Amino acid sequence: MLSSSTVTLVVNTLAASIVISYVSVTIVLPYLQREKTRDSDSSANTGKSTEKRPSGHPGATSTNVGAVDRNSNSSSSSKAGEGGKQAQQEQELKLELELEQEQEEPQEQHKYFGFVRPNPFTDSLPPSDAAFKAFPKLTGNLELQATVGITQRHRMTLQIPRLLELFENNLKGKLAMALTTREAIDRKEFFETWEFFERTKDNLKCSNGAKTLVEVAGGHGLLGILCAIFKKERFDQVVIADITRPPSYDAVLSCIAEVCPWVVDKVTFVEADFTKTPGLLPRGCAIACVHGCGELSDVVIQTATEAGVASVALMGCCYMNSSAAWASPEAVKMFLGVNVAAEVQRTIRLEAAGYKVTWKHVPRAITPMNRIIIGRRLSEGEGEAIGKKRAEKEKKKVEKKRKKAAAKAAAAAAAAGNAKESVAK
Ligand SMILES: C[S@@+](CC[C@H](N)C(=O)[O-])C[C@H]1O[C@@H](n2cnc3c(N)ncnc32)[C@H](O)[C@@H]1O
Repeated sequence: MLSSSTVTLVVNTLAASIVISYVSVTIVLPYLQREKTRDSDSSANTGKSTEKRPSGHPGATSTNVGAVDRNSNSSSSSKAGEGGKQAQQEQELKLELELEQEQEEPQEQHKYFGFVRPNPFTDSLPPSDAAFKAFPKLTGNLELQATVGITQRHRMTLQIPRLLELFENNLKGKLAMALTTREAIDRKEFFETWEFFERTKDNLKCSNGAKTLVEVAGGHGLLGILCAIFKKERFDQVVIADITRPPSYDAVLSCIAEVCPWVVDKVTFVEADFTKTPGLLPRGCAIACVHGCGELSDVVIQTATEAGVASVALMGCCYMNSSAAWASPEAVKMFLGVNVAAEVQRTIRLEAAGYKVTWKHVPRAITPMNRIIIGRRLSEGEGEAIGKKRAEKEKKKVEKKRKKAAAKAAAAAAAAGNAKESVAK
């Protein structure tokens, strides 16, 4: 008789082998089968997964070719004999080799997929630069730029060595001297604003009898105040709009009261959120905005064009937060940078609203966000006139080219005729 423990052992062993067989048949074998099929699939294509390739990529086309080939192989193998099968295999091998070679060019492949690409958050074009116009002695003089601290967020002060070398004995020099003596404004903002003013003073104009300049996000307000002083024939009202009225604004204003008191009454500070303050822009006015962060510059453009301002000048910053940047084509953002993408989009928006747009730059040594977009509203019919003039110019160019080509052909024909004649003689 078998003992009860022996019976239990036999029963357990039998149960275990049944379970193992079941698992092998239902799970392991189908899995191995699937793996085998996948291996043969991928080796027939590229030897590696091509899942990610977009359909336009040469690799994708080749993959399809491989697939077609494989199908034709299976269908033709029954018809063709051993020789045909061998030819198919050779063909497959050739394709595989071609695809492997293609994969050995990681640069191309990476470039295509965009793994290696410029940082989308920086301006990837060569930096645009400009000479110093307001204080020309700074151009090319890195030592002087560093000594006076053109990028420093510290106040202008008489303690700065060599600063006075920059100031001439005129109204501009006197004003600069007052701002320095009163330590009214940071050095970076002083140089940046003055350079911005030099580049836009001839573009900021009103129309339809308006005489108002609105400086949005004006902060210290120096730009608007410079316009009120040096472009007094154009502006009898300057509005500085900012969410907060900083102490630097009052400091700048007291310098103005000292040097050119006739300007003080022309300047008003509106402490308000520009995006929530409609009616700030009288029709035909001019609008400026220095470093309106991110979306603010977009809002300025939209509000300005809707209000029909005569001219606009703005220098953006913090482009990452700008809807204009994110509305731009992906490729432009990736390869030209978000900053340029935003500027292009803003330019398109201004042009679409009937403005003629140009770009200028302040010296890059002051700020890398140095591009100024300047727009002038075209008068009625002016846009069409410009288009017509361009088209006429283009037509003349084509006609000139055609005439030149005809003259060349005639000369060649004459030369050929002469050669024939001399041979005949
Ligand atoms: C980078 S600072 C530029 C200040 C000055 N224009 C300059 O160049 O030195 C940005 C200014 O925009 C102002 N600002 C931001 N959002 C604003 C809004 N919605 N309306 C008005 N001003 C705003 C801020 O208070 C700040 O003074």
